[in-house]
Amino acid sequence: MTFKRSLLTAALPYANGPVHIGHLAGCYLPADIYARYLRSKGEDVKFICGSDEHGVPITIKAKKEGITPQQVVDKYHKIMGDAFKEFGISFDIYSRTTSKTHHQTASDFFKVMYEKGCFTEEVTKQYYDDEAKQFLADRYIVGTCPKCANENAYGDQCEKCGTSLSPTELINPHSTLSGSKPVLKETKNWFLPLDKLSPKIKAYIEQHKDWKSNVYGQCKSWLDSGDGLQPRAMTRDLDWGVPVPVKGADGKVLYVWFDAPIGYISATKDLTPDWKKYWCDKESRLIHFIGKDNIVFHCIIFPAMLMEHGEFVVPDNVPANEFLNLEGDKISTSRNWAVWLHEYLLDFKDKQDVLRYTLCANAPESKDNDFTWKDFQAKNNNELVAILGNFVNRTLVLTHKYYEGKVPEAVEYTKDDLRILEEISKAPEKIAAALDQFRFREALAELMNLARMGNKYLADTEPWKLIKTDEKRVKTIMNISLQITANLAIVCEPFLPFTSKKLFGMLDMPALKWNSAKHAHNLSSGHKIGKEELLYNKIEDPEIEAQVKKLQDSKKLNEEQQQSQKSEVKSQKDEITFDQFEKMDIRIATVLEAEKVAGTDKLLKLKVDTGNDVRTIVSGIAVYYKPEDLIGKQVTMLVNLAPRKIKGIESKGMILMAENSKGELSLVSPTREDTNNGSTVK
Ligand code: 2FM
Ligand code: ZN
Repeated sequence: MTFKRSLLTAALPYANGPVHIGHLAGCYLPADIYARYLRSKGEDVKFICGSDEHGVPITIKAKKEGITPQQVVDKYHKIMGDAFKEFGISFDIYSRTTSKTHHQTASDFFKVMYEKGCFTEEVTKQYYDDEAKQFLADRYIVGTCPKCANENAYGDQCEKCGTSLSPTELINPHSTLSGSKPVLKETKNWFLPLDKLSPKIKAYIEQHKDWKSNVYGQCKSWLDSGDGLQPRAMTRDLDWGVPVPVKGADGKVLYVWFDAPIGYISATKDLTPDWKKYWCDKESRLIHFIGKDNIVFHCIIFPAMLMEHGEFVVPDNVPANEFLNLEGDKISTSRNWAVWLHEYLLDFKDKQDVLRYTLCANAPESKDNDFTWKDFQAKNNNELVAILGNFVNRTLVLTHKYYEGKVPEAVEYTKDDLRILEEISKAPEKIAAALDQFRFREALAELMNLARMGNKYLADTEPWKLIKTDEKRVKTIMNISLQITANLAIVCEPFLPFTSKKLFGMLDMPALKWNSAKHAHNLSSGHKIGKEELLYNKIEDPEIEAQVKKLQDSKKLNEEQQQSQKSEVKSQKDEITFDQFEKMDIRIATVLEAEKVAGTDKLLKLKVDTGNDVRTIVSGIAVYYKPEDLIGKQVTMLVNLAPRKIKGIESKGMILMAENSKGELSLVSPTREDTNNGSTVK
């Protein structure tokens, strides 16, 4: 099947953290190379991405940081968008799933499917937090892993032993919202009956035996495994997401994996009024670039949704990559085991292409791969500097030296020259053949072969020696070397866009497109080239050692933190009777006034309303709270503690604080707004 246009998508990253090299290598770099390549060939292509701004990890992060989910996604949407731009990832649009267009599009998509009867309604029992009055997403439930006894396993997975779990498998489950034991409560949700759709999906997958074997293999194993495909809930009991647009669905939102891929459609809508041309015409080719953890969603669930909806094309290819590891260990955001793009640029200013090159040369195309700083240095010094940079530099320096920067005329070609000219014209074909099959490493190697050939040509012909005896011959050699340089500028653009731009600048020629590289005479004799500058610089050992040290420091810090968290939980005190506990009168109070106690760093004098009276209390929290931040805050207070004089002030009662393993204090406040002053704590 031939296509008239291509719609390329790169997985919408969750807007809950910055971008690291694993993201880049996994999908954004290959997608960008492919998009640039198609554009250079003059094809009609749109390249779509944006932030995935729904889902539970975002609400968890917001809770942790004491901000709203919207504030979390606003922050990271910008950080991620900027990082992509700085690395030359050439999206035609970088959109977001909290946009109005997206909410409308996702909502309409669901409605169409709902009205066609594509969903089944099922009542299931889900964990519910009776104190927080809400259903609990799997990540909000923690308990003991039935496999390895880790006490902090999540409702969907134990991160210690890696087992995937369902919340009901946890021993001793508790809600991370209130700490209480969740109860099972019935709730209705809408399911996509993947079991019934299985034959259709199977037929679709089997039409795509041409997909990368890691992708096709994973799909087959999902389809053929034990119970086959199972119905999957497309709605959730949550308050962050796209509201479910049907009656009786209050408090429910679309499942994040239902709404996120629809984000590709909404982003295209925001990009162009012509969006239907890309989504609804059979002659459009839809290609999803993703990492391997997203395969099932893009190859099975989203195509099933698209088929059921009926108006859209289905993905033609899903060239997913495997994972990139870092220095032999899995990249991990929580352990800070990552190379963050924004940090890379602080240390390696203007070296975006060096990272692009290394990540492409080592792309985890068919199996997981490793990024090491040593290899990064070697790729820069031994390949970019020694091969590509060296060839270009010698060519341009000699052109300036012998011909005042004017392209000399090719006087007479030898047999060898003709072979070189033929090789030059064949290069774009070879690179394209690899790119067409999503073999980016091979394509990059072909590109470097062209530079390698140029280097060898100069080394074999030695124009710097020949100039004394055969000026005519040198003209031809330099003309050919300049043609190689111009063609390198063209074909390196998808991989190394910053280099390409610099090269065209140094040659003082307009940026030419892919097809021009099919012939070897893009620079006419007499054309004056611009000033040369080094394309790449050597990276020295201390720069690399500093990066390795940074990672090791982060590993050490992480281990220390984990250790201190483990060892510093104080052991339980001696048992007391209920009567003894009952003697303590603990209540909720509100801070009315707060000021520092003169002559101390730690003490604050507070006036609080206990519901029964307004009284003064001295509390040692000045290190953790500013007086102005406390006013109006509800606190928990032991109100019947005998009065004590502190720094000459009579303090009546004690504000209760949580103390973490580092000895830092935090106020303990009620989670419900209607907890009035004087409410008792029991
Ligand atoms: O894995 C992730 O980061 C997901 N946010 C990818 C979503 S891709 C698409 F469906 F939007
Ligand atoms: Zn476990």
